[in-house]
Amino acid sequence: MTEDNVDTRLRIAVVIGSVRRPRLADPIAAWLERELTAIDWLDLDLIDLAAVSLPMHEMQPGGAAASPIAARLADADGFVFLTPEYNHSFPAPLKNAIDWHFTEWAYKPVAFVGYGASGGIRAVEQLRAVLPELRATTIREAVLIPMAWEHLDAEGRFVPPPGTPQALHTVMRELGTWARALRSVRIADLAGRR
Ligand SMILES: Cc1cc2nc3c(=O)[nH]c(=O)nc-3n(C[C@H](O)[C@H](O)[C@H](O)COP(=O)(O)O)c2cc1C
Repeated sequence: MTEDNVDTRLRIAVVIGSVRRPRLADPIAAWLERELTAIDWLDLDLIDLAAVSLPMHEMQPGGAAASPIAARLADADGFVFLTPEYNHSFPAPLKNAIDWHFTEWAYKPVAFVGYGASGGIRAVEQLRAVLPELRATTIREAVLIPMAWEHLDAEGRFVPPPGTPQALHTVMRELGTWARALRSVRIADLAGRR
C-alpha cells in the first residue's frame, strides 16, 4: 500500500491479545502481518503476548522495569491490537500487558482488529474506555471480523471476507496520520518533563 503525504517512516507494533493454544489469532495474525509488511511507510514489530512473560503478581502501577517488551513498546509510534472477544470484553492477558506499562502507551494511537462471533466489537469498545487512562488515543474506524472461524481455507489460512482488506487500509491510513501528528506531541511532552 502506498499512502499520500508520507514523509516519515513509522514503527507500528501489532499486539496479539489471545494467548490460547490453539487460537484463531494465529491465522488472522499471519494475514495481518502479510498486509502490514506490504505497507511502505511502516516498520512492523509483531508482539505475541503468548511468547512474553508478564507475571500478574509482579505488575507495578506506573509500569515495571522488568518488562521484556517495554523497549519494543516504547520504540513504537503506534499500535494495532489484535483482539478476540471473551465474554463481551477483551482477553485478560491483554489487560495485563496494558497495565504492566505506562509511558510506553502515552501520546500514541491504537488501532483495532477485532474478531469473534460478533466481530469483537464489545472488546474493542471496552479497550476504548481503558486506553485514554494511559494517554493513548484510539482510531475511530476498526477492522471487525464476525464469525472469523468461517473464513479459513482448507489449509487453515485466514481468507478475509470481502471489504476487510479495505477496512484495514482505512484504519492504517488513520493510524499513520495520528502517529505522525503525535510524534511532535511526545517530543513536547518529554521536553516539558525535564
Ligand atoms: C472464554 C470465551 C468467551 C467468549 N465470549 C465471546 C463473546 O462474548 N462474544 C463473542 O463474539 N465471542 C466470544 N467468544 C468466541 C471467541 O471470540 C472466538 O472463539 C475467538 O476466535 C477466540 O479467539 P482466539 O482463538 O484467538 O483466542 C468467546 C470465546 C471464549 C474462549
